[in-house]
Amino acid sequence: MKEIINNLSVFFEGKSSNKTIVFIHGFPYDHTMWNAQIEVLKEKYFCVSYDIRGLGESPSGDGQFTMESFVDDLEIILNELKLIKPIICGLSMGGYITLRALERMQDRFSAAILCDTRSEADNNEGKLKRAAAIKRINKEGLAPFSKDFITNCFADSFRQNRSEELNKIIEKSSTFNSVGVKGCLLAMLSRTDTTQFLTQIKIPTLLICGEKDTLTPPSVMKEMFHKIPNSEFAEIKNSGHMTPIENPDEVNKALLNFLSKLN
Ligand code: MLT
Repeated sequence: MKEIINNLSVFFEGKSSNKTIVFIHGFPYDHTMWNAQIEVLKEKYFCVSYDIRGLGESPSGDGQFTMESFVDDLEIILNELKLIKPIICGLSMGGYITLRALERMQDRFSAAILCDTRSEADNNEGKLKRAAAIKRINKEGLAPFSKDFITNCFADSFRQNRSEELNKIIEKSSTFNSVGVKGCLLAMLSRTDTTQFLTQIKIPTLLICGEKDTLTPPSVMKEMFHKIPNSEFAEIKNSGHMTPIENPDEVNKALLNFLSKLN
């Protein structure tokens, strides 16, 4: 089922009387990134996913996004759906939104799942890379950027053995509105650092990271795990940055194990 909330496309699976999990996808993807998880979890959980503003089916508007405005969007979805203490689950850029949402309103959530993400803000090199990406999109259009960026997210084995799937993901992302994609790059470039806050996360937290993730490697996520008091860490075999797509069985196992321990 789909509903438009605050102009955003929001998707639901499962019974609304069950405990809710809100899934926030990465960049430059859409809510379908979580299909393999929702397929399993919808039996016991109310699964809410949405397309971040500017990506997928959600409109780009003027593309003037900040991480703060992405958290405002999330807050409006929580309020409109009257969600009580959902579990929040975000990957990479979805993780940046999750971390800032926890910093702003931790008491609205009962647990958190952080996949392939980091708490540090972009350093100078990172900011310059975002600026170069925007320049490239302006010059060449979206497709060449999407192809390179997305290919780099996946492990070699996925690129070699599941190239058809990879090409479909690239094709889809290349059709997104470039204003929205550039707006996301600016929001990531200007986000704040949430590292200082990690020790103050009180809710149970699961960290998931692909063993071959080169964007947010296990060493980075293990440091976060050591700082978050009530946390668990799961390293996903045979996977790069896109764990839910690359190794859905292992990710689902980690999620179910974590969720089974929550009351
Ligand atoms: C993502 O997967 O959301 C991106 O890799 C995040 C980023 O570029 O920092």
